[in-house]
Amino acid sequence: MSQQSSYYPELAKEIEAPEGPLGVLLPGLGAVATTFIAGSLLLKKGLAKPYGSLTQMQRIRLGKRTNPKFPLIKDFVPLAKLKDFIFAGWDIYKDNCYETALKSGVLPQNQIAKISKELAGIHPLSAVFDKKYVRNLDGSNIKKFKTKMDAAQELIKDIENFKKKNNLKRAVMVWCGSTEVYMTPLKVHETLESFEQGLKKNSPEIAPSMIYAYASLMTKTPYANGAPNLCLDIPALTELSKKQKVPIAGKDFKTGQTLMKTIVAPGLKARMLGLDGWFSTNILGNRDGEVLDDPGSFKSKEVSKASVLDAILEPELYPELYKEIYHKIRIEYYPPRGDAKEGWDNIDIFGWCGLPMQIKINFLCRDSILAAPVVLDLVLFLDLAQRAGLSGIQEWLSFYFKSPMSRPDLKPEHDLFIQHLKLQNTLRILMGEEVLDHSGLDYYESKEAAIKATGK
Ligand SMILES: NC(=O)c1ccc[n+]([C@@H]2O[C@H](COP(=O)([O-])OP(=O)(O)OC[C@H]3O[C@@H](n4cnc5c(N)ncnc54)[C@H](O)[C@@H]3O)[C@@H](O)[C@H]2O)c1
Repeated sequence: MSQQSSYYPELAKEIEAPEGPLGVLLPGLGAVATTFIAGSLLLKKGLAKPYGSLTQMQRIRLGKRTNPKFPLIKDFVPLAKLKDFIFAGWDIYKDNCYETALKSGVLPQNQIAKISKELAGIHPLSAVFDKKYVRNLDGSNIKKFKTKMDAAQELIKDIENFKKKNNLKRAVMVWCGSTEVYMTPLKVHETLESFEQGLKKNSPEIAPSMIYAYASLMTKTPYANGAPNLCLDIPALTELSKKQKVPIAGKDFKTGQTLMKTIVAPGLKARMLGLDGWFSTNILGNRDGEVLDDPGSFKSKEVSKASVLDAILEPELYPELYKEIYHKIRIEYYPPRGDAKEGWDNIDIFGWCGLPMQIKINFLCRDSILAAPVVLDLVLFLDLAQRAGLSGIQEWLSFYFKSPMSRPDLKPEHDLFIQHLKLQNTLRILMGEEVLDHSGLDYYESKEAAIKATGK
């Protein structure tokens, strides 16, 4: 009986094979995007390893522990191949991807030199941009348009031309653009109809990232939002994704400090250790840091990062342990560090008889090195989702996001380990395999197990 319940044959999918090239569209060709593109080109040439990528390196267990198989995820589900990627993107600066990769200073020059020609061949398309939403940037590679609907049509044309020129049947878009100012969903975001009216009437509540998302969905291109701004996270665009049968995911790549938070917090909770406070601060000196120096953009990031602890620790269920947490997040722009961010966490916890203890984390990370494999996995999994006929919010991809989207009536899941299980089990379900819950009691208690172990 218990075994039957862990199969979902009705949810298994016939997945179309990933034939032909795959377009990879990136609004925002900055540090993350160029590190992702450069790494993908190096991988294609066998000059780098895809560390950090589940789609390239991780194995998935299938079947019981008594007779398990461990195929690579990329051999288990029909994913597109890296050699089939064709890149394009938009930016407000005219620098080609080689120039930006050099300026960003993430990958060493000698590594970038090996793919300089390919990178230099990728020139940003002119962007849909408005300084009201990203106050600390000024660029000249910007489209001129009368209404926001005209801007959307321009982007749709860009996507169609790119697909035609490269003979593409499929593409995926991942927002790697700067963090826009903080916004909350308003009336114009409520329905597709009100949103389209808003586009025509130049509603100030429609940010450029939303216009890219709209163009993406209108061309049936799956879309992921890597930044913390509102963008996709509005009912109008969720409605459009369902109408167009396109998968979407967001928001805000889960990389440095929040990745650590969602690794440590579930452990504290699992052992019922209490928390008084968590102070996180970091310094970073890249362009992202410069944008986040503006209070409007910082607020988007702060809100995205802040929800994590409450969602994992559930103070409503455990008031004695987690009700009074003081959670403080700071980000300081400090140019000398470039992309090599440094984060400090001070965690005040308490244990048996209320005795206090402290944990200190000092993470010397590299932002874009952690984000690039996330972009790669999102491209491949969203393309897979579309070929599997999935549409709307892909909650199984919440593993990759700081502020995961979920159905409005469901609480988003932030615990990295539950997110990981959800991702792997979704792949098993799609492929008609048994879901693994890791309970394991059946190995000891079932008749079959007893016969296996004792021979009687
Ligand atoms: N690196 C990480 O670990 C990480 C983690 C989570 C989220 N993010 C988010 O990912 C995004 C990219 O990060 P990054 O480090 O590459 O930043 P970046 O500043 O190097 O690149 C962003 C690029 O977007 C461009 N841009 C801004 N508005 C645009 C528009 N409307 N259209 C087209 N281009 C536009 C900018 O000119 C810039 O080149 C940021 O929003 C950042 O907050 C990054």
